[in-house]
Amino acid sequence: MNMDKSVVLASLLCKTYQIGDINVEALKDVNLKVEKGGFTVISGPSGSGKTTLLNIIGGIDKPTSGKIIVFGNDLGVKDEDFLADFRCNKIGFVFQSYNLVSTLTVSENIAFPMEWTRKQEDYIKEYVEELLRIVDLEHRADHFSFQLSGGEQQRVAFARALANDPPLLLVDEPTGNLDVKTGLKIVQILRKLKDDGKTIIVATHDERIIQLADQKLYLEDGKLVNLDE
Ligand SMILES: Nc1ncnc2c1ncn2[C@@H]1O[C@H](COP(=O)(O)OP(=O)(O)OP(=O)(O)O)[C@@H](O)[C@H]1O
Ligand SMILES: [Mg+2]
Repeated sequence: MNMDKSVVLASLLCKTYQIGDINVEALKDVNLKVEKGGFTVISGPSGSGKTTLLNIIGGIDKPTSGKIIVFGNDLGVKDEDFLADFRCNKIGFVFQSYNLVSTLTVSENIAFPMEWTRKQEDYIKEYVEELLRIVDLEHRADHFSFQLSGGEQQRVAFARALANDPPLLLVDEPTGNLDVKTGLKIVQILRKLKDDGKTIIVATHDERIIQLADQKLYLEDGKLVNLDE
């Protein structure tokens, strides 16, 4: 199995959350394979496990059972030091709730992953400007997240996810809260990243994004259904 060149390989993945006496089975026996350069879309009703699956692929959360291998690493058995490094260098995560740092400006939020990986100051400054251009937010560089609309925060989150040029992008409902025009900008960014050869997994219901997919998956009550089959 380790010889497999897939970027993501999940087998019999289960995640059960425990709240007091109640068990919530968020993922049930999920099998998944994502090839390098692939564009995978995961859709499914609210609560079906989309975010949970992205969190496990990105090394934010661990499965209760089953195996998750990403870039050849068995994430279920790795310690937090490894996972922190892995997330920073390999994964660009665009969270459903943006997760911007409220005490940092837009530019500082975008620069943060590059500072963490000790990129040179001149490089960081230049690349932040380029990322701001890509997401059309040059005019907001010195604002704080609470001064931005939801759509603007989403675009900052996108720019931050791209900061370390990660080979795998995990994007959670990127256009869910955006108006049609702003959403289109995100769709265009995703299309360009796909053309650049990034491996991309997006949780979404947006038809414009689903059209870009070469693998369409559907989660229902924690179980994965492959609509291509
Ligand atoms: N930290 C947690 N503790 C307990 N239960 C959780 C936790 N996170 C998620 N769940 C539960 O796991 C299930 C899957 O949640 P998840 O957030 O993955 O769904 P989703 O498909 O992303 O939904 P949405 O479309 O609303 O974002 C839900 O029943 C949810 O209540
Ligand atoms: Mg979700």
